[in-house]
Amino acid sequence: MKILAFETSCDETAAAVVADGRHVLSSVVRTQIDLHRLYGGVVPEIASRAHVESISQLAGEALAQAGCGLADLGAVGVTAWPGLIGALLVGVNFAKSLALSAGLPLVPVHHLRGHIAACRLADPALAHPFLCLVVSGGHTSLVWAQDPVTFRTVGRTRDDAAGECLDKVARLLGLPYPGGVALDRLAQRGDPAAFRFPDAEVRDAPLDFSFSGLKTAAINQLHQLEQRGQAVDPADFAASFVEAVAQALCRRLELAAAETGAPVLALCGGVAANTALRRHAQALADRLGLPLTVPPPALCGDNAAMIGAQAHAELLAGHTAGSDLNALATRSLDQG
Ligand code: KG4
Ligand code: ZN
Repeated sequence: MKILAFETSCDETAAAVVADGRHVLSSVVRTQIDLHRLYGGVVPEIASRAHVESISQLAGEALAQAGCGLADLGAVGVTAWPGLIGALLVGVNFAKSLALSAGLPLVPVHHLRGHIAACRLADPALAHPFLCLVVSGGHTSLVWAQDPVTFRTVGRTRDDAAGECLDKVARLLGLPYPGGVALDRLAQRGDPAAFRFPDAEVRDAPLDFSFSGLKTAAINQLHQLEQRGQAVDPADFAASFVEAVAQALCRRLELAAAETGAPVLALCGGVAANTALRRHAQALADRLGLPLTVPPPALCGDNAAMIGAQAHAELLAGHTAGSDLNALATRSLDQG
């Protein structure tokens, strides 16, 4: 069964056609990076407007590239939560109208469940249950994936997401938006042991993260070095900071793996494209003797193929919506 899926939760407008939840027949992504760069971050109003401008065209492109029409589809999937509300509303309303006019079931998808589904796209043999570290610009969670529609969050960030924290430090170093990618590139030429940062620990909650403390430590350290007139090698600073974030993430992943007895590990979300994090997660998996699935970078960032994959699983579970579907800015992953 072919599903046409949409993703508009943040600053990427995306459409895709996915067959049987596993074969990506087409996946088109239009990023809004150039529009937001001027402001150093995503401007919600601008994001919504850009989604409105692009979504019909991208739907047509996704269908054309997949070589199919509306009559070949079995359902329409859409990211309905969580995300920027105005941005989500564009995708939800478009998907709703399309489903209604074509007489197709409408399947709302949780954005982070979509990121986790990217692991299944990357590795069709991936078996449940598995333990997944979900790291994006807005979320950082350790999730027990019992089956494709049953999840239990076992650890979460108490404040900033890892991506948010990387973007902030990138901005401090004068790197262009979106900072995470530029920071990754710069870190390749730096010494990861040049600077030290505290662990992102939360007392009495060993599986939770706190990245705001780590971010503040980086800001303070940069300011102190500047005040003392000491030159900071941006590549060394970038490499050390990325190292601290990757270690904080992998330390929790290791603890959660022991606690849950996970047979398989997975990593997903925009930050999963990070070179140091991928290396650390692979080293951890090798040390624990567990298989690790990480989607290729194109499936780590926001895309609609992952939404189509998850929509298939939700549809099989009967999780469809009526034409009164609304978008939600926040909603837990476990809730669906
Ligand atoms: O999943 P995603 O595309 O959007 C959200 O759902 O938030 O994640 C975006 C985040 C941004 O913070 C971006 O800077 C970060 O992922 N990111 C990276 C890399 N590529 C994207 N962070 C570190 N290294 C990368 N290579
Ligand atoms: Zn995302």
